[in-house]
Formats: sequence, C-alpha cells, structure tokens
Amino acid sequence: MRLVMIGSGYVGLVSGACFADFGHDVVCVDVDDGKIAALNAGKVPIFEPGLDAIVQSNAAAGRLRFTTDLAGVVREADVVFIAVGTPSRRGDGHADLSYVYDAARQIARAAEGFTVIVTKSTVPVGTGDDVEMIIREENPSADIAVVSNPEFLREGAAITDFKRPDRIVIGTEDPRAVGVMQEVYRPLYLNESPLLFCERRTSELIKYAGNAFLAMKITFINEIADLCEKVGADVQKVAKGIGLDKRIGDKFLHAGPGYGGSCFPKDTIALVKTAQDAESPMRLVETTVAINDNRKRAMARRIIAACDGEVRGKTIAILGLTFKPNTDDMRESPALSIIQGLQDRGALIRAFDPEGIDAARSMLDAVEFGTDAYEIARDADALVLVTEWDEFRALDLKRIKRLMRTPLLADLRNVYRSADVERQGFRYVGVGRPE
Ligand code: UGA
Repeated sequence: MRLVMIGSGYVGLVSGACFADFGHDVVCVDVDDGKIAALNAGKVPIFEPGLDAIVQSNAAAGRLRFTTDLAGVVREADVVFIAVGTPSRRGDGHADLSYVYDAARQIARAAEGFTVIVTKSTVPVGTGDDVEMIIREENPSADIAVVSNPEFLREGAAITDFKRPDRIVIGTEDPRAVGVMQEVYRPLYLNESPLLFCERRTSELIKYAGNAFLAMKITFINEIADLCEKVGADVQKVAKGIGLDKRIGDKFLHAGPGYGGSCFPKDTIALVKTAQDAESPMRLVETTVAINDNRKRAMARRIIAACDGEVRGKTIAILGLTFKPNTDDMRESPALSIIQGLQDRGALIRAFDPEGIDAARSMLDAVEFGTDAYEIARDADALVLVTEWDEFRALDLKRIKRLMRTPLLADLRNVYRSADVERQGFRYVGVGRPE
C-alpha cells in the first residue's frame, strides 16, 4: 500500500517508519525543509529509542521517503494520514486545529482516485466531520473517506507500542475504508492486536477518554500518597494491593511529582472544554487538572520544607529534567515548576539530565547544567531526583555523600528505599511512604 504521513513530527515519523518496517511504501511529508533534508541524510530529529535504526534501514530499502512536496505524493497515495500538531490554543485551552484543516485543504486539492484520509493527530470529537466538509467544499468531486485512527504511543516506548498495541481503534462506517484500513493494519492484527471498528466520533472520544482516565489514575494515587504520609501508610504497597485487583490493574499507579508531557496536560484540558461546550461537564477531569497543577507546585514546597524551611543561597541539585525517562521532551515537565518554585525562594539550581539539557536550556533561566549526577552533587544542600532515568537508580551514594554539603535526598519517584539511603548517612524524603 502507498501511505503518506502529513507531518513528520513524533507521531508521523514513528508511525511512518513502523508502517514501512511492515513492508508498506511510505512517504513522510513536512513543511520544514531543514527537517526533511536532515531525514533524507539519515538524521532523526527526535530522541526515541530504536527509531534511528528503523528510519535508516527502511530508507535504505527504499520503502521510506521524505519530501516537502505534499501534492506530488498525495496524488499517488492510497491512504493519507494527518499527523500534524494540535497544540492547546492560547487563551481558551481548546485544541488548535488550524494545522489539521490546512492539511485537509491541501489533500483535497491533490487527491486522485479513491483516497482514505485518516486523522491520527489527537482531535476533538467532531473534527472528522469538519475535515470531511472542508475536503468536499474544496474538491466536490473527490472520492474520499475520512477515518479517525487515534495514536496510543508513549514517548520512549513508541516503537514497541506501535508494533504491539493493546488495540487499534478505527472510526469509520464506510465499508470501502474499513477494507483499506484492515489492509493497512494486517501485519499487526496477524500479531493478535485487536482492531476495534466504531463510529468516527466514538473513535475520537476514545483517545481523550483514555488519556483522561490514565491522568485520573495517576492523580488518584498521588492523592493516596499524600494521605499515606498523614496516616503512616506506604503508597507503593497500597498501589500493589489495589493493582492486583484485575478490575483496577497495576499500571499507572506510581505516585510522583504529577504527570507532564505533551499529551495528558493538553488532552485533559481539551476534554474539559469539549464537555463544557456540550453542557455535559466532566468534573472528575476538571478536578484532576487542578490537582495535578497544584501538585507540581507543591513539590517545590516539599523540598523547601526538607531543607528546614529555607533555601535562600542554598544549592539544590536536580536529577532529571524531562517529563519522564527515555525522552528529550521537557514539555509540561514537573521539573519546570519545581525549579521555578525553588528559584523564587532564592535557591541556586544545578541540574543534569541524560537527554533533556538542550531543551532545558531554552526553557529555564539561571540554571547551571552539569555533565553527570556527581558533578552537580558537589557542595549541594539537597539532591532532588525528579525523573527516574535508569542511570539514577544505582547511584554511588557513598561518593555522593562525600561530595554534598548537606546529605539530603528528595526522591520524588520513590526509586530508593529510605532505610538504604539513611544507612549511608543521608536524610531521605520520598513520596507517600512512612518516614
Ligand atoms: C501518553 C499515553 O500513555 C499514551 O498512551 C498516549 O498515546 C500519549 O500520551 C499521547 O496521547 O500521545 P506519554 O505522554 O508519552 O504517553 O507518557 P506516559 O508514559 O503516559 O507518562 C505521562 C506522564 O505521567 C509522565 O510525566 C509520567 O512520569 C507520569 N506518570 C505515569 C506517573 O506519574 N505515574 C505513573 O504511574 C505513570
């Protein structure tokens, strides 16, 4: 099949490369000449484990190409995926659909023969109807079907998530489109990944409902963590105890500094807006958004309290800046609020992250970046583990203790056991566990 990805960002590139790996002929399109030139030279502009190898091998095999010529490749395509960004619109929090609509107009002018147009970008309920209307207005004779096929990739695990998905959701009631989409995903459902066909609007809502539910689950366990601290219980054991109930499940029950990233914060707010507009408010999600925002700020206060209520002039070393490990993405990372909160109270910040420093430089002021955990620990008054990169899981605590001015470890991801750390002479602060 001839597939085209409009938008060679995270979703477009990962999906395009994986579809090519399954033997389809794929062209990824982008408006950014520099990005396309880099990709044609084998350089992948984002950090995602395993992606470079798949991009390079499929490009070498001729199954994966990159271009800025949207019209030229859409003309030849069986399926065109819209995988452009849908950022939060400044001011009202609604998803900004201007890139999706622009793509739809350009596809309409170029499509020839029966073409299935698939929205992969996360789009509010009803966007498929708008895209179809735009295309029919722009080119009334176009022979098209507009399908919703949301993406459930996690950054850092995107290749596995694409190749071994829990489910593939396809929203269309057009029998020809059903046939085409079955063909597109044949290599995956032969791997026993279930294909769920449903109405287009249902499919669009599944994406938001899924992300909101996960955000709510994290927020629930974060509130249980707060309660654990008050009543002397251990959140990790509570999570395990409830997670063994199959109706609850053990995933996404790690208490921490609050969820971040390019998806949960944006998608929960967009769902809240959609629900308000439909006069069917989602109070659980509204509350989740508010609790998570507060939590990120509260983390700075927790660190200040651990430093005996005063951080002015003290050096705080931050381990991990990205919103989670195995990504270079800093968007909505809890580290941003934490660092700001500490700087507002006069702390000096040193930080290290294995992949996030380039992004962090453009988002943070007055932070001194180091090259590893030990360098930033030197003369620090507190070491704060914000993102649980593997390389922070087995730090040489003896060495760190010798380097620090005050041996204090604030472990916001519960990577360490308090007894082990305290045995090395540290004060230890975790999340939701008895002191
Ligand atoms: C999320 C979803 O997991 C994907 O299924 C979805 O496709 C994607 O959004 C999207 O909409 O595109 P992602 O944002 O990459 O993926 O990252 P997650 O692994 O879900 O983590 C999100 C945030 O939640 C991180 O800040 C992470 O640290 C936090 N988290 C996650 C917790 O605090 N506790 C947990 O138990 C799990």
